[in-house]
Amino acid sequence: MKKKVLVTRKLLRSNEERASKLWDAKLNLNDEVYSQQKIIELSQGCDGILSSLTEKIDEKVINSLPPSVKIISNFAVGFGNIDHQAAKKRNIIVTNTPDVLTDATAEIAMLLILGACRRAKEGMEFARKENWKWSADFLIGKQLTGSRLGILGMGRIGRALAKIAKSFGMEIHYRNRSRLSPEIENGAKFHESIKSLFSVSDVLSICCPATKETKNIVNKETLEYFPTGAIITNVARGDMIEDEAMVEALANRKIYAIGLDVYKGEPKINSGYLNQSTAFILPHLGSATKKTRTAMADLAISNIDEFFNTGKCKNTIN
Ligand code: DGY
Repeated sequence: MKKKVLVTRKLLRSNEERASKLWDAKLNLNDEVYSQQKIIELSQGCDGILSSLTEKIDEKVINSLPPSVKIISNFAVGFGNIDHQAAKKRNIIVTNTPDVLTDATAEIAMLLILGACRRAKEGMEFARKENWKWSADFLIGKQLTGSRLGILGMGRIGRALAKIAKSFGMEIHYRNRSRLSPEIENGAKFHESIKSLFSVSDVLSICCPATKETKNIVNKETLEYFPTGAIITNVARGDMIEDEAMVEALANRKIYAIGLDVYKGEPKINSGYLNQSTAFILPHLGSATKKTRTAMADLAISNIDEFFNTGKCKNTIN
């Protein structure tokens, strides 16, 4: 008999076809964002769940899942939406989709840097008006060549971004839990502390996972470490920024501009960012290319398949 798997969000067609070939897949054809209660109800009789970052699968949900559920395969590299420790206690493995979205996300990280530094939001608005006028000082932004890029979190995405940013002539600095080997560092300068990294960051890109340690790591106090007029960008998770402090730093020009793809409590965005001409903001597009989304869902499916066939999975995170 085929295994039963709840697929919580609509996937691209080729991925849904594969899932339906492998399992009795409960697909979400209307792409409704399920409530926690609905996930519990729909998972009855299922052997696994293929989840997305839009579902908060916390301890309460985990403890209400039927005992038949043995795997939660998250369709994302980030897994802050799942209480993986609670899952472990119930012998449910949690998996994610590393590697396949590295390049797409690094591209968006670079877009945020360019958009924020070169005033893309204002430029796009002017271009749609009839009365814009070129002048020597019209929409002057910050040039990347020769400026210092601080990368917070030098994992796969941070390293891919470092490579792109180097080709723009940026000098790379980073902070990571541990220092990388010289070959992987590739000339980037390691910083022992957040203070040291932030104080040399003309531009910061946040690329680290959301953990207890990184939550609100950019806050009222740490914003003071930056050079005046720095640019801050975030392609990881909204949890890392204390929004009220950031909005204030933009208003008083301590921070020149921001580039954001991710937010606390998505899809809500702190209203302080919405009308800021210096906020270049995108709706969580990091992995949004056909190639990458297909590869991510394919990996999320393969993770479940591997587990059903062997009892383990190499992308287990708990
Ligand atoms: C991830 O995989 O964590 C990305 O944020 C999804 O776009």
